[in-house]
Amino acid sequence: MVSAKFLPAFLSLFALASAQLENNVIEYNVINLLNDTHTMGVIVDNVTYPLSFDSKVTNILYNGKAPVAKNGYQYAKISKEDNSTEAEPFFRQPTHESTLNEFYNRTWNTQNVSQLPVVFEPLKAINRVQSDLHREGEIPTIHLVANQTAIDLMHNSNSTEDYKIDTNMTYITLNNTQSYEAAEISLAGRSSRWMTKLSYNIKLAKKDRIGEFRRVKLRAMDTDPSYIREQLAYDVIKSTGLLSSEFSFVRVFLNDQALGLFGIIETFHDPWLANSFAGGDKKYKNGNLYQGVFQNAQSSAMNRTSDLSYYNNITAYADGQYKIKVEASKGKSEDYTPLMEFTKFIDTAPTTSSDAVAAWNEKLDTDSFLRSMALEVIMGYSDGYFTMVDNYYLYQNLDTGKFFYISSDMDLTMGSCMFKLDDMWSGNYTTFPGLTTRPLMKKILQVPEFKKQYEELLVNITQKLVNPVVMNDRINDLVAMTKEDVAWDKTLPRVGKDVFGAIGAAMGNSSDMSSMDLSDIGNVIGDFPPNMDMEILLDFGTRMSTNLTQQDAVNGPTGHKSLSAVKEWIKNQSDAITKFYNSTS
Ligand SMILES: *[C@@H]1O[C@H](CO)[C@@H](O)[C@H](O)[C@H]1NC(C)=O
Ligand SMILES: *[C@@H]1O[C@H](CO)[C@@H](O)[C@H](O)[C@H]1NC(C)=O
Ligand SMILES: *[C@@H]1O[C@H](CO)[C@@H](O)[C@H](O)[C@H]1NC(C)=O
Ligand SMILES: *[C@@H]1O[C@H](CO)[C@@H](O)[C@H](O)[C@H]1NC(C)=O
Ligand SMILES: *[C@@H]1O[C@H](CO)[C@@H](O)[C@H](O)[C@H]1NC(C)=O
Ligand SMILES: *[C@@H]1O[C@H](CO)[C@@H](O)[C@H](O)[C@H]1NC(C)=O
Ligand SMILES: *[C@@H]1O[C@H](CO)[C@@H](O)[C@H](O)[C@H]1NC(C)=O
Ligand SMILES: *[C@@H]1O[C@H](CO)[C@@H](O)[C@H](O)[C@H]1NC(C)=O
Ligand SMILES: *[C@@H]1O[C@H](CO)[C@@H](O)[C@H](O)[C@H]1NC(C)=O
Ligand SMILES: *[C@@H]1O[C@H](CO)[C@@H](O)[C@H](O)[C@H]1NC(C)=O
Ligand SMILES: *[C@@H]1O[C@H](CO)[C@@H](O)[C@H](O)[C@H]1NC(C)=O
Ligand SMILES: *[C@@H]1O[C@H](CO)[C@@H](O)[C@H](O)[C@H]1NC(C)=O
Repeated sequence: MVSAKFLPAFLSLFALASAQLENNVIEYNVINLLNDTHTMGVIVDNVTYPLSFDSKVTNILYNGKAPVAKNGYQYAKISKEDNSTEAEPFFRQPTHESTLNEFYNRTWNTQNVSQLPVVFEPLKAINRVQSDLHREGEIPTIHLVANQTAIDLMHNSNSTEDYKIDTNMTYITLNNTQSYEAAEISLAGRSSRWMTKLSYNIKLAKKDRIGEFRRVKLRAMDTDPSYIREQLAYDVIKSTGLLSSEFSFVRVFLNDQALGLFGIIETFHDPWLANSFAGGDKKYKNGNLYQGVFQNAQSSAMNRTSDLSYYNNITAYADGQYKIKVEASKGKSEDYTPLMEFTKFIDTAPTTSSDAVAAWNEKLDTDSFLRSMALEVIMGYSDGYFTMVDNYYLYQNLDTGKFFYISSDMDLTMGSCMFKLDDMWSGNYTTFPGLTTRPLMKKILQVPEFKKQYEELLVNITQKLVNPVVMNDRINDLVAMTKEDVAWDKTLPRVGKDVFGAIGAAMGNSSDMSSMDLSDIGNVIGDFPPNMDMEILLDFGTRMSTNLTQQDAVNGPTGHKSLSAVKEWIKNQSDAITKFYNSTS
């Protein structure tokens, strides 16, 4: 498919000059990362024209003038040694205007991707700013430039080291190129640091914004061979009137290396609360944003998790099972009192008295919680409140005086799991791991009205949204949109250490444990709750080193106990919930 040919230089210059006379010249723009051995060109009707980059902006966006094509054009890499060209294996349609910022060897610039229906309008407390960070049907490009020696140190660091590296970033959309100086990158996540493809935090300089946000996370999607789980899970959150980050895809380059296809999400730091609850109002006075993180070594020693149990001991809340992600604009720092009061409410809340519903609604945005808990089951959150008491936020909303519940981190969903699938998709929600033991869930289900609402939510969201008829169009479109990038992503060398794969291998062969990084094993074990299924966890570890195709990961079969295919999850779960509802109603 690749054509190599030699062209006298004067030919293209002559052709360009004559086209210019006819006023038939446009600008061609293409993204590609090359080294010193090659440059870029565009082949228009069999004639090659050179393209170049502006080194003051970025070395991955090439542009240059060339005539409007009569039949078609291709971008090509040109060898500096002998001017031989290596063209894209397809022709692009002629255009009479300057091109968008196209991407080398991608057959499309935009795609029509079907949307999910709105099942519930956003809850009243939500007032999200207009942002163009998440562009439907488009994949923008991010290029990070930083000290490579420092980057290598970060990539090879152990999980206790915290590198923050100064970086310049270029963000290229189809229509625009935006440069950021003095941004900071660091590795993101805990367990995601044990993957070979790493996830990153980006923190822009104080005044800088990307689509109204200052901090974003680049999600590697390394445990998800379908590459679409997080997109779908965040879509479903939005479609059911809830709030979290939103999600979209980006291509990422770091210095001279392509890192691949990533997801981009906002993180919950400033100005996220103002952007989510106050339409971006810079004068917004926020309350505390508490994060449940399961536990750390200190809280583990005290046998405390972020399950929202009440302790009559304020210091116990600061043992490490919770974090204050964002402090209230006013008041004390490190203030766990509002959280303590809320857990005390849970502990003592009325359940069957006539004032129960009103009492709950005064303290908690009960819709935000009950809908989120419905999604935990329907979408199979394997790292959420029920399963791991992890990856959730409680926002002390000062405007309403109520706590608002937010779910986050959607990588382990829809049957990518460490728990028995049979327990997660039985249709009988009480078998879902952890559901009946978490204090907030246990208590709120004792209120008959809320129990009824919860059961209706399970059925309604299944019938209106999370079933094959409603979701498969979007799934198919997302696969079509990502498949060339997934193919590209899989060819790229990885920069991280394969700790998870090594754990899987070591667990399968216990004599091999000595070869492991012991501190990392400690982190893994310390991070897993007792109700986790070891057999599934082992399968999870071993599947990190297998090469499942996107097609199989979406359609099945996957051949893994720790991974249902995406469509298989949606079909089985919607069938099970519908069947259970029909048998009990
Ligand atoms: C430079 O790029 C060419 C083509 O993309 C590749 O064949 C070559 O190995 C690269 N050289 C270096 C030093 O990276
Ligand atoms: C390009 O050249 C080839 C032969 O070298 C010819 O077959 C083809 O028709 C030409 N295409 C265009 C668009 O001129
Ligand atoms: C390649 O083309 C350029 C002009 O585009 C010319 O200056 C250069 O001499 C050519 N190199 C070779 C090796 O043909
Ligand atoms: C970012 O760009 C500025 C201005 O060009 C430069 O001074 C600085 O060294 C760059 N930083 C990095 C990390 O490349
Ligand atoms: C790059 O980072 C390394 C390691 O942190 C450091 O020793 C070196 O001085 C840095 N180089 C520059 C130009 O800042
Ligand atoms: C690019 O910008 C032009 C003009 O601003 C607009 O008409 C077009 O829809 C944009 N295209 C995309 C893909 O955003
Ligand atoms: C730890 O807490 C759990 C649940 O709160 C309880 O079941 C268990 O007995 C406790 N273990 C210890 C050692 O206190
Ligand atoms: C309160 O919690 C702290 C932190 O876990 C602990 O050190 C202290 O002993 C507890 N106090 C009481 C009275 O239990
Ligand atoms: C649902 O599962 C629970 C066990 O968690 C069981 O006690 C109950 O009978 C089941 N309900 C139905 C209707 O099967
Ligand atoms: C579920 O749907 C039914 C029928 O449309 C409706 O009557 C009920 O209010 C809905 N319940 C919830 C909690 O959305
Ligand atoms: C273009 O992409 C296809 C997969 O979509 C891949 O097979 C091929 O190697 C790529 N070609 C170049 C020149 O990058
Ligand atoms: C992690 O790396 C740091 C710095 O290199 C070192 O001091 C520390 O002992 C390491 N921790 C573990 C658990 O290996």
